[in-house]
Amino acid sequence: MKDSELEEVEINLVLETLRLRHGYDFRHYAQASLRRRLRSLQHLFGLKHLVDLVPRLLRERDLLSKVLAGLSVPMTEMFRDPAVFLALRQEVVPLLRTFPQINIWQVGCATGEEAYSLAILMAEEGCLFRCQIYATDINDAALATAEEGVFPARKMALYGDNYRNAGGTGKLADYYHHHMDFVQMDPTLRRSMVFAHHNLVSDGIFCEAHLVVCRNVLIYFDRHLQAHCFALMKGSLVRGGCLCLGSRESVEGTVVERDFQAINKAMRIFRLRPRGSTP
Ligand SMILES: C[S@@+](CC[C@H](N)C(=O)[O-])C[C@H]1O[C@@H](n2cnc3c(N)ncnc32)[C@H](O)[C@@H]1O
Repeated sequence: MKDSELEEVEINLVLETLRLRHGYDFRHYAQASLRRRLRSLQHLFGLKHLVDLVPRLLRERDLLSKVLAGLSVPMTEMFRDPAVFLALRQEVVPLLRTFPQINIWQVGCATGEEAYSLAILMAEEGCLFRCQIYATDINDAALATAEEGVFPARKMALYGDNYRNAGGTGKLADYYHHHMDFVQMDPTLRRSMVFAHHNLVSDGIFCEAHLVVCRNVLIYFDRHLQAHCFALMKGSLVRGGCLCLGSRESVEGTVVERDFQAINKAMRIFRLRPRGSTP
C-alpha cells in the first residue's frame, strides 16, 4: 500500500471514530483542508501516526473539544470584506425594516466579530431594538470568546478601517471599552445577541430568519454538504428574507438557485422569491 493510501485509511478511521463515538460527521468536508488540519492535530498531540488519535478519541472525553477546535478554522474579523456590510446597510436593511421583528441567523460565527459587526450596523440603522441576532458555530472555544466579547486591542486599527469602509456612521471606539491590551464590546449590543452551538451537518433549522449570513463557511464543505446547508438556510428564511454569502460562495448552480433572486450579485446577496413566483 502506498503512503498516500495508508494516510487515506488513517483519515477515514479518525473520521469514523468522530462520527460513531461523538456524532460529528466530517466526511463531507473539503478533503485538502481537512487533511491539513488533521496533520496539525497530529503534531499538536505529538502522535507518531494519525491513527493514534483513534484510541484517544474513543476513551478521552476531554479531547473532543480540542479536536473540534483544531478541525474548525475560526478566522474572522470585524466588518470583514467591508463592501459586503456596505451592501447590507444600503440594500438589505431597507427590506428588513418592513418586518416588525427582525431575526438574523449568523451561521459559523467563530469568535463573534461578525455578529458584533451586524449588531453595530443594526444599531446605527435604528433597528437593533427590534432585532435578534442568533450566532452559531460548532467550535465551543470560539463561542466562549464570542460570549465574552473581549478582543485584542491591537486589532482595532484594522477593524476601525473596515468599519469606515463599511459605511459606519460613527466611531468604532463608541462600541467598546478599552482595557490595557484588550477591548470589551459594549454590553448593550449583547442584549440583542445569542451565541449557541449548532452543527450545520446534523442539526435542523435554528430559527425563523429574515436574514441569514453565512460567509467563509461553505468553502470548507464539498458539494453534497453545501447543498444540504443551502436547503437548511432556505428552510429557515421567511418569504422575502435575504441570504448573504459574501464574495466566496454562491447559490448559482445549486439546488436552490431558482428559489432566490440576486439583490447584489458581486456580494452574493440573495432574496427568497415569493411562493409561486418563477425566475
Ligand atoms: C472561517 S470561519 C468564518 C467566520 C465568519 N463567518 C467570517 O466570515 O469571518 C468558519 C467557521 O465555520 C465554523 N464551522 C465549520 N463547520 C461547521 C459546522 N458543521 N456547523 C457550524 N459551523 C461550522 C467553524 O467552526 C468556523 O468558526
